[in-house]
Amino acid sequence: MADVQIGKSQVYASTLGLGTNKVGGHNLFKNLDDEVGKDVIRAALRNGITMLDTAYAYGFGQSEKLIGEVLQEDEFDRARVIIATKAAHIPGDESKMDNSPEFLKNAVEDALKRLQTEYIDIFYIHFPDDTTPKNEAVAALHELKEAGKIRAIGVSNFSLAQIKEANLAGYVDVVEDNYNLLHREAETELFPYLDKHHISFIPYFPLASGLLSGKYTATQKFDQQDPRSKKDDFTGERYQKIIATMAEIKVIAQRNDASVPQLILAWYLKNPHIAAVIPGARNVEQMLANAKATDIRISHDDYELIDDLFRF
Ligand SMILES: NC(=O)c1ccc[n+]([C@@H]2O[C@H](COP(=O)([O-])OP(=O)(O)OC[C@H]3O[C@@H](n4cnc5c(N)ncnc54)[C@H](OP(=O)(O)O)[C@@H]3O)[C@@H](O)[C@H]2O)c1
Repeated sequence: MADVQIGKSQVYASTLGLGTNKVGGHNLFKNLDDEVGKDVIRAALRNGITMLDTAYAYGFGQSEKLIGEVLQEDEFDRARVIIATKAAHIPGDESKMDNSPEFLKNAVEDALKRLQTEYIDIFYIHFPDDTTPKNEAVAALHELKEAGKIRAIGVSNFSLAQIKEANLAGYVDVVEDNYNLLHREAETELFPYLDKHHISFIPYFPLASGLLSGKYTATQKFDQQDPRSKKDDFTGERYQKIIATMAEIKVIAQRNDASVPQLILAWYLKNPHIAAVIPGARNVEQMLANAKATDIRISHDDYELIDDLFRF
């Protein structure tokens, strides 16, 4: 699998990583099994994926803990794995965020313990708080980088103004934000800024939480308890439009000998503004299927066609 340099750092990560919010993320999703989660991580590492994207917020440390346990197993070499984690949620009061230098330094120490490692390859401020100047928050991360505790600096869910403030001294290596074929806001202003400043971009929700996997039908009903039942993409006319578009995507996938999620992931891999893609997986089967996206080479014409089909 190809590697990509993360910003100006010395971190090189697989262009297809693994999103791990369904590994130990019991606070976010029901009926998760930690043993299945560990199997997903093992299978990812055995199949050439080096980047694992986690966060304190996934199970309030549980996702990091499970990753740490797997990496202790003899089969795996810590040095070959890129651990990307995030923090900002205040433990015990997780609806609130903290970006203060003191909080971030403590958060990194706590994450190192859960991950059972000496360093974190990519550390993101998960969400902005309301008070800390973003350049001061990032300066604290720069100190941690100089001390060898983290290797690359990231921010997530920051507005463009906050990213610019965070990057005043040029320390930001990577931005992680919501972007997929259905949500293209980043294209107008964010991508040009990041490209100009050699900051990598890693989108989250690449499969739009499963909607872009092509597995849903026009008559699908989402349980009221399911957060998707309240999202615009999953309701009303917009949902019907997306389902109709997925039928056209299926035809393009077939002529590329790909499944729908593989084609969608291959589109991001071909997108010059995207450094790496980190689809989540509920089980080993999904993870293995998604990893094969790196074998799909879509033509320029199909790339443009997919781009156009989702502009509604
Ligand atoms: N920085 C942030 O604030 C932030 C926010 C959100 C996510 N993230 C990161 O980004 C990663 C990706 O986002 P995400 O996992 O929420 O969403 P996603 O990648 O858009 O969707 C992943 C979900 O789609 C379904 N799926 C995956 N592969 C499939 C396949 N081959 N066939 C059918 N269904 C498939 C699975 O859910 P079901 O089986 O349940 O349908 C899976 O959990 C996360 O895991 C996390 O690491 C970061």
